Amino acid sequence: MKGLELLLLPLLLLLKDASAQWNVWMPRDISAMTNSCVVIPCSFTYPSGIRPYRGVHGIWYFGHPYPQLFPPVVLKSRTDIVHESYKGRTKLLGDLTQKNCTLLISNIGVEHSGKYYFRADLGGANIYTFPDFTKLQVLDQPNIDVPEEIVSDQSLDLTCYVPDNCPDMSPEIHWMYTDYLPDPVFTPDQVEEGNTAVLSSTLTFTPKPMHNGQLLGCRVNFPNTTYVYERLITLDIRYAPRTVWVNVSQEVMEGSSVVLHCDVDSNPAPMITWYFGDKELMSETASNSSLSLENLTPEQEGVYTCVGDNGYGNMNTSMYLAVNYPPREPWINESLTVLEGSSVSLQCTSKGNPMPTLTWLKDGELVGTITAEEGSVLELHEIMPQADGVYRCLAENEHGRASSSLNITVEFAPVLLDDSKCTIVREGVQCVCIASGNPEPAIEFYLPDLNVTINNSNNRFNYYTHSDGYTSTGVIKLQDKGERGNNGDTAVHVHCSITNIYGSETIRLELQQEKKYMMAVIVGTIGGVAVIAFIIAAVRYVGQNNKKENGNPGQDVGSKVENPSMFYSAVKKDKQSLRKKVLKTELLGSKFNSILEEGTGDDSDYQSVGPMAGMERQELNYAALEFLHGRHREGVFRRADGDGSDYTEIKAK
Ligand SMILES: *[C@@H]1O[C@H](CO)[C@@H](O)[C@H](O)[C@H]1NC(C)=O
Ligand SMILES: *[C@@H]1O[C@H](CO)[C@@H](O)[C@H](O)[C@H]1NC(C)=O
Ligand SMILES: *[C@@H]1O[C@H](CO)[C@@H](O)[C@H](O)[C@H]1NC(C)=O
Ligand SMILES: *[C@@H]1O[C@H](CO)[C@@H](O)[C@H](O)[C@H]1NC(C)=O
Ligand SMILES: *[C@@H]1O[C@H](CO)[C@@H](O)[C@H](O)[C@H]1NC(C)=O
Ligand SMILES: *[C@@H]1O[C@H](CO)[C@@H](O)[C@H](O)[C@H]1NC(C)=O
Ligand SMILES: *[C@@H]1O[C@H](CO)[C@@H](O)[C@H](O)[C@H]1NC(C)=O
Ligand SMILES: *[C@@H]1O[C@H](CO)[C@@H](O)[C@H](O)[C@H]1NC(C)=O
Ligand SMILES: *[C@@H]1O[C@H](CO)[C@@H](O)[C@H](O)[C@H]1NC(C)=O
Repeated sequence: MKGLELLLLPLLLLLKDASAQWNVWMPRDISAMTNSCVVIPCSFTYPSGIRPYRGVHGIWYFGHPYPQLFPPVVLKSRTDIVHESYKGRTKLLGDLTQKNCTLLISNIGVEHSGKYYFRADLGGANIYTFPDFTKLQVLDQPNIDVPEEIVSDQSLDLTCYVPDNCPDMSPEIHWMYTDYLPDPVFTPDQVEEGNTAVLSSTLTFTPKPMHNGQLLGCRVNFPNTTYVYERLITLDIRYAPRTVWVNVSQEVMEGSSVVLHCDVDSNPAPMITWYFGDKELMSETASNSSLSLENLTPEQEGVYTCVGDNGYGNMNTSMYLAVNYPPREPWINESLTVLEGSSVSLQCTSKGNPMPTLTWLKDGELVGTITAEEGSVLELHEIMPQADGVYRCLAENEHGRASSSLNITVEFAPVLLDDSKCTIVREGVQCVCIASGNPEPAIEFYLPDLNVTINNSNNRFNYYTHSDGYTSTGVIKLQDKGERGNNGDTAVHVHCSITNIYGSETIRLELQQEKKYMMAVIVGTIGGVAVIAFIIAAVRYVGQNNKKENGNPGQDVGSKVENPSMFYSAVKKDKQSLRKKVLKTELLGSKFNSILEEGTGDDSDYQSVGPMAGMERQELNYAALEFLHGRHREGVFRRADGDGSDYTEIKAK
């Protein structure tokens, strides 16, 4: 039989009149819901030469077309003996004599899925199994046709299908979980194709990113039955990054470590790229990404950008990472030496974050404060000698401070100080010439009456000079005999020349008459015993020098105390009695300037003050602790008035 069929098959193709040959029409595929039924439409032909013997019969096989392999018999029209699993379920709807082999299978189960073959039995040897078959698919769920790619904001059609091939039971379709959808539209449809029917319902809406991951369902039921079938799908909606979250901008200290986080809302997951400014740092495909920054340096301050890109679009968010650090040591000019009257501008720059406040201090006192990105410039115009000092630029921010300093040395032409004069002493006239200048001035006396120049190199007339800082003191003593000139006491002519590289001045020194001396002690805020002790020490030092240089105990000033005027003269007549005119010191970081100063006006004699009383008469006659630049002392010191005290006092700042 089999061989015959194989021979016949190509023959069928050759013969145009197909209806006159063995032939069958049935749907290639058909489907049904479990528990429902299915009608497989079928018709067949056989060669016109065949005369059916004892009627037309047919057999439906399941799975396999050949009886030798004993496929389960679905239906056997001649005997009605069928396989166990089809008992009571199958019925031949078609009339075989009309070549109609339509089959009904009811109460269907998934186990009935498979191929169904029809075998026509016309009696005798005219039995033929058609090679064509219907493939039955038994479903326990409806089908939903979902596009491969659902993109947000583009109209979407979702179609739910259910087979409708059971005449007794007609399905109904309902969409589930559509409440949250924007304006859903449902379009039912019935599609017939190749003798099979499909019922469908199309849901149309425009999905949004928020619908990603949401459930949608299609529910099928057969009215008047309890059979319900559902299919659920999860929406996978593609959308470009919607939000890119990164840490807020923040400030951290240098040397610390931070982890920046970036979270991108997109579907599918994006490629996350980190940028520092324009520079790409790293890239990864993930919904979130961490950027670890360790041991931060100020150079790492800047804008960090996280870019999310998933092919549907990109988005980025930036944050600013500020790296704070204490001020670096400021850069300032080198120390410099300038000429009085010139102008300089000093520059100070320091780095720090936040931007440091720059403060200029001169000798510890505030000069100016500037906060500026470009640094601070201190302009000194027409510099005066007192501009001399240590200039410090202090950079401060909330994380620390740093400073640098420079020294300014002011050079200036010599200036004669007020104390320059000649005074009558017992054995003659003593002339003192005091000048300040930088470099320190050279002092030289000229006696026009004698046509004599007296300076360091010709140590005549008890010439004595001393220099301390920028002050030079020159002293000569003219003895009575001739040295004072011809005109006697009132006609001494002494000129003093003061000279340095910037200038020279010659002044005639005035002869001053009797003077009262007064001691004033200028005491700073620290005041008290320490200062007094210092002065005592200074006085002793000067006194000892006097004795040593003097080498003449007979001139001991102690013997002259009963006559202050004489006492004064006695002291003055020795060149060794010349004291250091200026002593400058710093005590506990603050400057103290004290002066033993001449008084004016009344005739009272030398007065001693406080604990120094006894000693002063013996050892101290003329000493000054003076501000560096003597000519400015008026501005610096304030005299105490009113109580007859000979102190003057100043509060040191
Ligand atoms: C075969 O029989 C079925 C059931 O009676 C019928 O619905 C169908 O129309 C018939 N087919 C043809 C081709 O006559
Ligand atoms: C369901 O049953 C009711 C009464 O039992 C009947 O009126 C109705 O037509 C039936 N519906 C269907 C679709 O068979
Ligand atoms: C950035 O944000 C993430 C997540 O909120 C957090 O774990 C991390 O500590 C943050 N980083 C910084 C430096 O604040
Ligand atoms: C970051 O992404 C990973 C997977 O890439 C995920 O497991 C984790 O939960 C995400 N973390 C956050 C905070 O979103
Ligand atoms: C970030 O986004 C803006 C527009 O939103 C774009 O101009 C810029 O180029 C993006 N930056 C990066 C690094 O992608
Ligand atoms: C200090 O430095 C600045 C910058 O180099 C310079 O312009 C200025 O002239 C300097 N000042 C002096 C007095 O040298
Ligand atoms: C400034 O002068 C002092 C002495 O008066 C010295 O100790 C210091 O080193 C000098 N500073 C500079 C920057 O030259
Ligand atoms: C002073 O002395 C110098 C020489 O030492 C001499 O040339 C000059 O003429 C004299 N002047 C007077 C006014 O005598
Ligand atoms: C001192 O005076 C003499 C004249 O008496 C002069 O020749 C000499 O140059 C002077 N020396 C100085 C250092 O001025």
